[in-house]
Amino acid sequence: MSAEHDPRLREIYAHPVGRDAIDRLLLQIGRSPRWVTNPLAATMRLSTLARLAKPVLGDRFAPSLLEVLADHDDAPTSTPAVVTSAEQPWWTRAVFYQVYPRSFADSDGDGVGDLRGVLSRLDHLADLGVDCLWLSPIFDSPNEDMGYDVRDYRAVMAEMGTLADLDELIAACHERGMRIILDLVVNHTSAEHAWFQAAVADPEGPYGSYYHLRPGRPGEDGTGPPPNNWTSFFSGSAWRWIPQAQRWALHLFAPGQVDLRWEEPQVRAEVADIVQWWRARGVDGFRLDVINYISKRPDLPDGNEAIGALLGFPGIEHYFFGPRLHEYLRDLRTHGFTRAPHAPAPPSTARERHPDGTLGEPLPPDAVGVMVGETPGVGVEMTRLLAGTDRGELDLVFNFDVLDNPGKTRWDDYRYDLGYLKDHYLDYLERVGHDARIALFLDNHDNPRMLSKVLGPRAHEPALRSSLAKALATIQLMLPGTPFLYQGQEIAAVDQDFTSAAELRDVESLNRLAQLRTEGLSEEEALARVLPGARDHARVPMRWSPGPGAGFSTGSPWQPASEASVGFTVAEQVDDPDSVLGFYRRLIALRRAEPALSGGGMRVLARRSRTYFGWVRSDAAGDWLIEVNLTDRTIRRPRGLPHAEGVLGSAGLRRGATMAPYECVVACVSAHPSSSD
Ligand code: GLC
Ligand code: MG
Repeated sequence: MSAEHDPRLREIYAHPVGRDAIDRLLLQIGRSPRWVTNPLAATMRLSTLARLAKPVLGDRFAPSLLEVLADHDDAPTSTPAVVTSAEQPWWTRAVFYQVYPRSFADSDGDGVGDLRGVLSRLDHLADLGVDCLWLSPIFDSPNEDMGYDVRDYRAVMAEMGTLADLDELIAACHERGMRIILDLVVNHTSAEHAWFQAAVADPEGPYGSYYHLRPGRPGEDGTGPPPNNWTSFFSGSAWRWIPQAQRWALHLFAPGQVDLRWEEPQVRAEVADIVQWWRARGVDGFRLDVINYISKRPDLPDGNEAIGALLGFPGIEHYFFGPRLHEYLRDLRTHGFTRAPHAPAPPSTARERHPDGTLGEPLPPDAVGVMVGETPGVGVEMTRLLAGTDRGELDLVFNFDVLDNPGKTRWDDYRYDLGYLKDHYLDYLERVGHDARIALFLDNHDNPRMLSKVLGPRAHEPALRSSLAKALATIQLMLPGTPFLYQGQEIAAVDQDFTSAAELRDVESLNRLAQLRTEGLSEEEALARVLPGARDHARVPMRWSPGPGAGFSTGSPWQPASEASVGFTVAEQVDDPDSVLGFYRRLIALRRAEPALSGGGMRVLARRSRTYFGWVRSDAAGDWLIEVNLTDRTIRRPRGLPHAEGVLGSAGLRRGATMAPYECVVACVSAHPSSSD
């Protein structure tokens, strides 16, 4: 689509990137996509829309949008061939589990979780039925953003352990039939990384082109305006003045996280080398941090102010889906993740795990390490472009649209309506089809707990908390897609009742607080506007057992945890099959034993209900019915359901006319209703 063209809204919506962009804007303002598909709006010209919406969208909206679309004109619009199960890679049926190592288990009592701590708790993961462990950052780092600022990509952070510990952990995962992936943070490095140090020392030298360094205007000493209006995700300008280099440096995140310049071929070669190095050590792949941000529009033009105001981050349209993104990802897959033809075998590989849970022999090394993209802002169509099975880019991506209701952001204090979660996933699955696989996640280290978003203060009512935890587990583990569990979900972890800013540790929370204070808010007011979205909630120590330290540490934890509820630690749940943990274990075991539940087709029941979520998974061996009550009320089951025997459920196995609050059931289908039913 050329920049001169004045397309109709319908044409823009037919373009995958255009569709996602419009859907994103509508979601942001809490409007339905039906607004665009209505015939009157569909035939409207972009220029007309831009004129009508000028007060909201500003002057330059149309050209900004067209520019982004033009970057991706090669985007496929047809649906590629369906992939048969014979070609399905391991991760399509796997259950991933994210560990935030700093808060998982502390082996040496210094209050900081570490690798030997993870090692000591590995059987918990194996017993849960995890297929692949994902470790959030453990590389050497000054920890301005808790390891998401890497100083050395080939060394372990001192407080987490040593390279030898990591080798042991890799082998120990493999021995238990699990794979292991690490976090690859390469949109930026720490400002303490040797590359940046070299670039600062000699901006004209070989490392100067590794980063986005911009000279100031003559006479400028850092007091002049930065090179463009982009803002950082962690408050303030995205630029910092480096006096020693007499240059501005771009940092989309904290000032200590300086953005790499991927246009520089050496940068791409370095990253590919890092990946090969870890693959040779036995690492099975990576989760790629904010990987959709790596390609920035050349010359780094100012961001459109209206788009910036709407999405909260001026400049974002120039890098969230940049012009060379696809090329960089393909290269990285080929040169980094794909095993070189004569590469020596890694020291260990995962043992095969049979459907009954027993272990077999070590598997041959994977030809390609798994690539899981963290891709904030990417919508359904872009998922197909980045993770389409025939695209040769990423394997899976995280789509964040599930995390908040339309018109809401993470910072809003509201109760999440699960009716939207149903709509979101069904729309996503229907549109992606067999064309790409989806990652299913509800919690991670960057978000408050889903249990608390849905329940609010009622998350402290034990019965409701347990029922909803099981319901969410059922959705996450029984829908088609690859589930990513986050530590604590298996024991129904909820948000913390933080009472003061002194309890917060996260750079994002602290910067946001500081900014709100400069805007004149009292500490109490500022805190009230930070806590609903604070990442700290999910970063408090894992609760292993009751008592001080919660079995996490014998020392004083780096981030204090206030929760002391009875019944919500691993030790209290592990021997109780009806606990949340017991439920997770049985659900994952069932998923492994019955291939229909991970790889089977899906048929939705009562599609339009916003209270009942029911679907059938099937393969040649049979059909399974999965049902979830999405509300805290008793609801009636819809009519015409298949006859099915409950196998696992949160409120007993009998399937009567009604469902209890948040009740969930997995049932084996014995017969489909006759047409007269
Ligand atoms: C990702 C990480 C987040 C981090 C940011 C910058 O979003 O998940 O924790 O702050 O990238 O690296
Ligand atoms: Mg420690």
